[in-house]
Amino acid sequence: MLSKKFLVVMKKIVKLLCSFLITAAGYSQPNDTGIAIIPAPVSVTKTSGHFILPQKVSIEAGSQGEMKQVIAFLKDRLSVAATGNVTVANTLPTATIRLQLNNTADNSIGKEGYKLSVTPKNILIKANEPAGLFYGVQTLVQLFPKEIESAAPVKNVKWQVPCVNITDYPRFGWRGLMFDVSRHFFTKEDVKKYIDDMVRYKFNLLHLHLTDDEGWRIEIKGLPKLTEVGAWNVKKEGYFGTFSPPAPDEPRNYGGFYTQDDIKELVQYAKERFVNILPEIDVPGHSLAAVVSYPELSCTPGVEKYVVRSGEQIMDWSQGAPPIALVDNTLCPANEKVYEFLDKVITQVAQLFPFEYIHVGGDETPQNFWKQSEAIKGLMQKEGLKDMHEVQGYFEKRLEKIVLSKGKKFMGWDEILEGGLAPSAAVMSWRGVKGGIQAARMKHEVVMSPTTFAYIDYMQGDSLIEPRIYATLRLNKAYQFEPMPDSVEAKYILGGQGNLWTEQIYNMRHAQYMTWPRGFALAESLWSPKEKKNWNNFFHRVEDHFERFDIAEKKYAPSVYEPIFTVSRNADKQISIVLSTEAEGIDIYYTFDNSFPDRFYPKYTAALIPPKDAVMLKVVTYRGKKQVGRLITMRDEEWRKRADRNR
Ligand code: ACM
Repeated sequence: MLSKKFLVVMKKIVKLLCSFLITAAGYSQPNDTGIAIIPAPVSVTKTSGHFILPQKVSIEAGSQGEMKQVIAFLKDRLSVAATGNVTVANTLPTATIRLQLNNTADNSIGKEGYKLSVTPKNILIKANEPAGLFYGVQTLVQLFPKEIESAAPVKNVKWQVPCVNITDYPRFGWRGLMFDVSRHFFTKEDVKKYIDDMVRYKFNLLHLHLTDDEGWRIEIKGLPKLTEVGAWNVKKEGYFGTFSPPAPDEPRNYGGFYTQDDIKELVQYAKERFVNILPEIDVPGHSLAAVVSYPELSCTPGVEKYVVRSGEQIMDWSQGAPPIALVDNTLCPANEKVYEFLDKVITQVAQLFPFEYIHVGGDETPQNFWKQSEAIKGLMQKEGLKDMHEVQGYFEKRLEKIVLSKGKKFMGWDEILEGGLAPSAAVMSWRGVKGGIQAARMKHEVVMSPTTFAYIDYMQGDSLIEPRIYATLRLNKAYQFEPMPDSVEAKYILGGQGNLWTEQIYNMRHAQYMTWPRGFALAESLWSPKEKKNWNNFFHRVEDHFERFDIAEKKYAPSVYEPIFTVSRNADKQISIVLSTEAEGIDIYYTFDNSFPDRFYPKYTAALIPPKDAVMLKVVTYRGKKQVGRLITMRDEEWRKRADRNR
């Protein structure tokens, strides 16, 4: 017989263990607790009970100007839920929701952190700075039922929030997304929408890729042709990069640019939401829009009449990097006019964007036109430059001086390492993380945005269904993004960002589709403690956020639900198609008889051998009774092609 004392002790131990489990699982079991916060907070302790939203909500918040959007956002979301009105006041002893700035700094949460406490009586968010309150509010909204995301008021929802204590702060200060507004132009309103979406997941940096071969997107006073000529091309649809060259009489009326007033408005809009905008002027390559506007800036003035690119082929990548340019899209480092031009551009960019860095590109510069240029040969002799990398290095160092002279820090893609890094340069590492590691070892600041984990222009699933792009980055791979290499001093790694290049992105809905859910994964890598990351747990939360996006009518990619196809030939030379999924608990159903599979069709359990005369495999995925993936069809020629490629 067990003694009574022993049983009491055991009971206490079990109770203690249970409370630990609740704490540990606080945010990790959305289905059990209803808590599914992305990015995962530093610490979540679930306590008992709920806060039930009253019909009339009162918010106490300070009156500082920086609180404007914090309050406006919360009020806007609560108006979906509160049947009565939402009032806000500076001091309100009876407030149901309090947003409080600490009088004495709480060193445990830094500038962007917050503490959120929900009790049955009220909700309190405390932070050192308004940014922290903004992020606390984002977390609070995620604690409400998903209907809070609706654009219009929703009835018949139990508007309650589980009681919790959350302490939260970011792992990295640089949590970015790059939006390429050059390849396709996105309006000022589109950019605002992109900012609205990114801040929900605590991103704080928007990198605007403002110039490229397809368009110059920022008004520069005194250089009118950049936007009169350089911002316009011919509208084409299909697969960008393979378009037929536009005929001379095709209208060049596709594109656009931001006036300086537009830029000021965007900067202000971003600032109110605690987002810095990093402007990028991509030179000396990717500069066709500038060269077309002012041909004297190239090493080949008058050689040929160039036009702003509309997606026709202008580079030959068959020999690898650097590419061979078929038209000269480079500024000429041997031409003093180029530095005068850049001084004018950077002066105005520096005045328009308060952020401390200016990004000046430096990537993928073709060298073939430079190699043929007498002016470049003269420069090499004069400056003792050995090769074209050093020619670019010379250019970057001169540009660095211009950027520094405007009181800004100089940043470029990792190619700027190749010709001898400019003394103060910060490096954005995109060709993997090795450039970033090299730069950090040289004591330069680094932002990690490697293609391998952070290129959100890549396909999210199989090219059978995704718009075709030359590479794939699935959600689970994006979730493995680790911005901090082991072997460098942490202080040099500012953080990381995802890059949304838009050659194949023609509109905002598709920009959303490409950004989410991979943006969730990147947000978690940049905000949450490394040890909190857990794929299965994350994926459950992603599914909760998919439902939130559905209610908000925001677009996202369901590709993570769709199968990975591995095609080969087995020992008997038969085609074998292996299907797998990124997430657990997803069932795949298939047909070879051309009809449309649903969950009453054969369920995939082992490698498929196509029947002798079959011409297509159709697959679809379910979670339980709910179809989650889209119908995907693989034709017989495709499975043969893939099997032979994998031999
Ligand atoms: C890049 O993707 N060319 C930076």
